[in-house]
Amino acid sequence: MFALTPAPAFFATTLGTWYARHHRDLPWRHTHDPYAIWLSEVILQQTRVAQGLPYYERFLTAYPTVTALAAASEDEVLRHWQGLGYYSRARNMHHTAQLVVRDYGGAFPDTYAELLQLRGIGPYTAAAVASFAFGERVAVVDGNVFRVLARVFGRTEDIAKPATRAVFQNLANELIAAAADPAAFNQAVMEFGAVQCTPTAPDCLFCPLRESCFAFNHGMVAMLPVKAKAKAAPTRHLHYLVLRWQDKLYLRKRADRDIWLGLYDLPTLTAETDHLPPDELAAHLTALGAVAVAAPALVAEPLPTYRQTLSHQKLAARFHEVPLRAPLSAEALHGTGLAPYTAAEVEALPKPQLLVSWLRDQPA
Ligand code: ADE
Repeated sequence: MFALTPAPAFFATTLGTWYARHHRDLPWRHTHDPYAIWLSEVILQQTRVAQGLPYYERFLTAYPTVTALAAASEDEVLRHWQGLGYYSRARNMHHTAQLVVRDYGGAFPDTYAELLQLRGIGPYTAAAVASFAFGERVAVVDGNVFRVLARVFGRTEDIAKPATRAVFQNLANELIAAAADPAAFNQAVMEFGAVQCTPTAPDCLFCPLRESCFAFNHGMVAMLPVKAKAKAAPTRHLHYLVLRWQDKLYLRKRADRDIWLGLYDLPTLTAETDHLPPDELAAHLTALGAVAVAAPALVAEPLPTYRQTLSHQKLAARFHEVPLRAPLSAEALHGTGLAPYTAAEVEALPKPQLLVSWLRDQPA
């Protein structure tokens, strides 16, 4: 008979040995600076290492300290974040940097409990910073940890349910209690999930835990972790109005409780389909007092569709050219947030990725 699950001390030492041999050399593993560790963990929450790495390095070059980040403008911070998505992560970091400077004299709080009080820092990030920067014995639980623990310990709770986090947090806390070095333990479990115990093709053949892995011994590797399927994301059809006056484009800073808060965007209309009814466009232009050079060719030309998938919706966007015969009047602009920008100004502003993609396709 095989052991059903590993004892905590065996799990911790086995992963420790595995980590020492197999971990990737990543820049945030060479520092104890809580600011740099915080940045890396915020980036890596929704982003793969390969994609996040250049952002981490550019961000740290632009803002080497929490004080430098606090002193930056929100526009500039968002511009550095452009393309990473989940822009509230950047806005929250900026807010928290200012609070750390104001209330803590620029020195990061150094305990899990205090870190958890900061905006944008949840249990995962607080545990990562507290353990990697300050050596606190508190376990991280992210998607990798869910997968490793679900398989090795045969946990079948649905990880899509919020209540399941506590089950895994308790198990992870029991395991970290048996580890010699809590920071190395946390890195090791996450790295093991990222490199060895991967979602679709885990390397069970060369796994140091295979003899005691519940899922391996019960033929359940492909079934764990259990995660209820999310509902299919609906598609939102965005119709962009490209209002051009001479060499300028009209943009607005997004201020509503919607996607992309704080980013600069062209005015948009939402429609049921990728076809924008001409009367809706006409009504919108009239409301803006916009005098188009010619009626926009809504029907004649097949406009390309730009697509992006966000966490809870799919976007399909079309860009409708409206060259203007006169600039929009101050009166018409009042309350819209729209203002004209040159190409160089547009380049420097933080923008949604759909707009960046479209701009890239425009003739110089
Ligand atoms: N994903 C989240 N945190 C990570 C870390 N510290 N190293 C590698 N991947 C990660």
